[in-house]
Amino acid sequence: MASLFVWNDSYSTGIREIDAQHKKLVDILNALYDAMSKGQGNQALGKLLDELIKYTVVHFATEERLFKLHGYPDTLAHKREHDELASKVLQLQKDFAAGKVSLSMQVASFLKNWLTNHILGADKKYAPFLSSKGVK
Ligand SMILES: [Fe+2]
Ligand SMILES: [Fe+2]
Repeated sequence: MASLFVWNDSYSTGIREIDAQHKKLVDILNALYDAMSKGQGNQALGKLLDELIKYTVVHFATEERLFKLHGYPDTLAHKREHDELASKVLQLQKDFAAGKVSLSMQVASFLKNWLTNHILGADKKYAPFLSSKGVK
């Protein structure tokens, strides 16, 4: 299977539930990339894109629940980043469904950057805070 994104420990937040969810997002993204490189049709690609978006929503909700539960001080800025990311992928989904964009390598690398920048940036920032609250 062709992989776009190879997980390594530098992506780890040290929080089990979060790392498992991030890995699943990476898996879905890799499956999408693999399907693209095999030249699979729009229906198959659309399904994987839907899966990516659905799981992203689940994942963002998990993080935001933890922030609320532990009173993370940077919640607002983090949520804003989630909302921006979500609206970008929803726009992509819409444009794809309308036939305005095709899922190209450019789109795949956009999704990869989207995920890595958020994990390595905003997500890594909350890790020490949640760890200090005993979240494992
Ligand atoms: Fe996040
Ligand atoms: Fe995250």
